[in-house]
Amino acid sequence: MASSSFGSAVRSTAESLRQLYEELPYPNVAIEASGRNAIDGLYRLSLTTAQYARTRAIVPSEGALILNAGCGSGWETLILAEANPGARLVVCDLSAESVRVTERRLRYHGFGEVELYVLDLLDIEQLGLEFDFISLNDVLYLLDDPVAGLKALKRVLKPDGILRANLHHAYQREVIFRLQEAFRLLGLFDLPTPEACQRVREFMASLASDEMRAALRWNPEIYKDDTNIRANYLLPGDKGFLIPDLMRMLEEAELGLVCLVDYADWDPALLFKERAMPPWLQAELDKLSPADQNHFYELIYPNHRLIDFWAEHPGSSLVLPWSDADWLGGRVQLNPILTDNVEFRQNFAKAYEKKLEFAMNWPGASYGRLTIPAPQMAWLGSLLQGPTPVKAMIEQAAQVNTLEPEAAQEEVLTYLAGLESFLFVMLDPAPVPGEGVFPIA
Ligand SMILES: C[S@@+](CC[C@H](N)C(=O)[O-])C[C@H]1O[C@@H](n2cnc3c(N)ncnc32)[C@H](O)[C@@H]1O
Repeated sequence: MASSSFGSAVRSTAESLRQLYEELPYPNVAIEASGRNAIDGLYRLSLTTAQYARTRAIVPSEGALILNAGCGSGWETLILAEANPGARLVVCDLSAESVRVTERRLRYHGFGEVELYVLDLLDIEQLGLEFDFISLNDVLYLLDDPVAGLKALKRVLKPDGILRANLHHAYQREVIFRLQEAFRLLGLFDLPTPEACQRVREFMASLASDEMRAALRWNPEIYKDDTNIRANYLLPGDKGFLIPDLMRMLEEAELGLVCLVDYADWDPALLFKERAMPPWLQAELDKLSPADQNHFYELIYPNHRLIDFWAEHPGSSLVLPWSDADWLGGRVQLNPILTDNVEFRQNFAKAYEKKLEFAMNWPGASYGRLTIPAPQMAWLGSLLQGPTPVKAMIEQAAQVNTLEPEAAQEEVLTYLAGLESFLFVMLDPAPVPGEGVFPIA
């Protein structure tokens, strides 16, 4: 594991963090800002999305018990609330001020029922609760002992529950770790925040060239805000990890990896021109476990700031591939984070009606971007009306794209399987007899 080492440990890391986040609850996002269109966060924080990745079952969020550990200023909590309608939310943070800001934010957005605690996540068992979904965003890598954190959370995770967390990447963030080390040598970590941040600005402004500043990822616009300097160049306890570190930590905590949350964006094929690699390389990669394939990717091109993952009690899920019969007898629906999203619905409907290509940012897809060509939009638009029988989509594809039935079936099944692997659509293979079947517009 690569990590930034600690200077003279005058205060414990937990105490330094508590003081930092008392002063500057993170992130610095206006209370009034809405999380409704934060698709990236909604995807990462949706229990239904995580459970579908885990078991291919469509598990509704209604009635689920969700923990947000290390809630910060409540931006993550707000998105959790938006992404999981009807769930009961519990949050905790070391910093009382962060919890206060979270409470204000949630009340403002109509989520006043959330239960809030000023509590170290290591003590979460005290609440006597067991959770269906636990999220800790930008927290795990700050703990002195991340494995102890994982173990504490595992103890309060239901047998079918999912834990979602992330770690800073050792290579992608290497420059920031170097700068932290340099600023620690200069004693900046021990100064009051405004003074320390001012010194970082002076330091950067005094450097010999813009190239040097760019190499140190300095952007004066972003770092006008002290919160951002403290979250990067002066972040106490910050550490970097690689995929093998994650796997070792999960093993020590007796947790299993479901998959990376943005796993499609870690596909080694993305590293090659038109996704084509020499046959020997493909054959060797095929022999590797999914985690080792992810590790190969990060060794070649470490472009992810975070290793964002879903974990479970080991071996608790078994995913069998769908058969053609499952598809042909089933109904497909949009990922629920999309179904009530006004902006998405408008854009999707427009592409459908005007026979245009549809594109949006989607963390489940390669490069975090999903593009659906016009011919496929011609039969996918019906998803806006609700779960749609696959057979109805095949009929529509045959009609609008003038295809023979077999060709239409081939096109629909292949394309839907791709969208399903991006967790953009979900298959319900066994519709309840007599339940509403939606007409196709
Ligand atoms: C970088 S902020 C992330 C906030 C929020 N999760 C987000 O992503 O927007 C880290 C937060 O974790 C909290 N934290 C750190 N260690 C903690 C611990 N052991 N128990 C509870 N909260 C902790 C800090 O107080 C801080 O609010």
